[in-house]
Amino acid sequence: MSGHTHARDEELLKRHRKVMPPWMPLYYDQPLEIVSGSGSTVTGSDGVSYLEFYSGIATNLVGYGIPEIQEAVQSQLRTGVVHTSTFYLIRKQVELAERIAGLSGIDDPVVFFTCSGTEAVETALLLTTQYRASNQVIALRYSYHGRSFGALAVTGDRNWQGRGLSPLRVAHARGGERRHGGMADLNDTDYVHACTEDLRELLATSTPEATAAMVVEPVQGIAGAVPLVPGQLASYQAVLREHDIPLIVDEVQTGWGRTGRYWGYQWHDVTPDVLVFAKGVGNGLTMGGLVGRREIMSSLSHPSISSFGGNPLSLTSALATLDYIDSHDLPARSAHAGRILVEGLQRCLADEPWVCQVRGTGLLAAIEYTRPGALEPAVDMATSVQETCRDMELLVGVGGTSGNCVRLLPPLTVSDDQVRQAIRVITDATRTART
Ligand SMILES: Cc1ncc(COP(=O)(O)O)c(C=O)c1O
Repeated sequence: MSGHTHARDEELLKRHRKVMPPWMPLYYDQPLEIVSGSGSTVTGSDGVSYLEFYSGIATNLVGYGIPEIQEAVQSQLRTGVVHTSTFYLIRKQVELAERIAGLSGIDDPVVFFTCSGTEAVETALLLTTQYRASNQVIALRYSYHGRSFGALAVTGDRNWQGRGLSPLRVAHARGGERRHGGMADLNDTDYVHACTEDLRELLATSTPEATAAMVVEPVQGIAGAVPLVPGQLASYQAVLREHDIPLIVDEVQTGWGRTGRYWGYQWHDVTPDVLVFAKGVGNGLTMGGLVGRREIMSSLSHPSISSFGGNPLSLTSALATLDYIDSHDLPARSAHAGRILVEGLQRCLADEPWVCQVRGTGLLAAIEYTRPGALEPAVDMATSVQETCRDMELLVGVGGTSGNCVRLLPPLTVSDDQVRQAIRVITDATRTART
């Protein structure tokens, strides 16, 4: 790192700390400014080229600087129309809605666009609470759904939820994590049975007669890539159907091929009543939304808008991103690269005492660090591995409910060689990590 660049970063950090809120964390002892990118690599203001295995928190789905997407966005910019508002007809909004409706697997679907995952989750909660005339929602433990009142209320992780003041009543059913709460010894069938009976019990005893919805992530991303157990979601949906309770599937992190299938829910033999999306679909431009059954999506009695929803630049980027996903069969690519990543890490880290588990579904993967022989989270290990990876020119995320997981979500276009390079770096970083 040149002295000059270092001084510039220090100065930017000082200015950042003065005007940005303290609850918005920065990665690394010496935070990094990314100034350019191409494919799965980015360059920092330190002049170093990094392999990027977090994709801007899963937003750069297809990679950085993809010419087809850049050209599409530039041609929209040249029209002079950056935004019009949803009070006008927007051709690309209709086109994208038609495509997402077709992809959703939902019968007679209607689509609404927002600017973020949070806003999309909030809208799904608004619509289902109106539809069912109830403010009772069921969510999952260890879940993350965003930053607004409703999205925070359904979030099942105290570290992200804070005080959780909320307009909703929320009960949290069990998610995919069975190692805590006395269920570690249950096999899949017994665990699913226990979780389902627990949901029945919740509905029979602690919730009002009508429940607005259940909201789930098919793989619990921020929890550290924890998948729901096979059969769990289908079993939950069977119970929900007995009570006419809509299932909202939050695909903000799992959508568009990230898990090796187009949607994360496709691992689970269910059909959502409402599907929430965001992150990768804009490949870096802000784009979110929801697609759901017509009767639910039509349930608002008052007019409603999102000023920036249906933004032409974001729509253009999303349409080009969907084209790219299709023409490069990225769900299959993600399944293939994800297998190399997870199996490779499992092999290389098998004897590492601080590694509790390596898990992944497609390219949504995590390494969980705990004290040797215990489930006690080893947060310092995860942050130390993250720092050492950076020293070795690889960027990774940190997450998990205790912050003890290294999270790996590279662009779906990452090459096999880049995946193998990341495995080597993470293995070295784990072996040399400071605890
Ligand atoms: C599953 C899930 N839902 C919702 C959100 C919120 O999305 P956003 O940060 O775009 O508001 C996130 C963000 O990480 C997420 O992972």
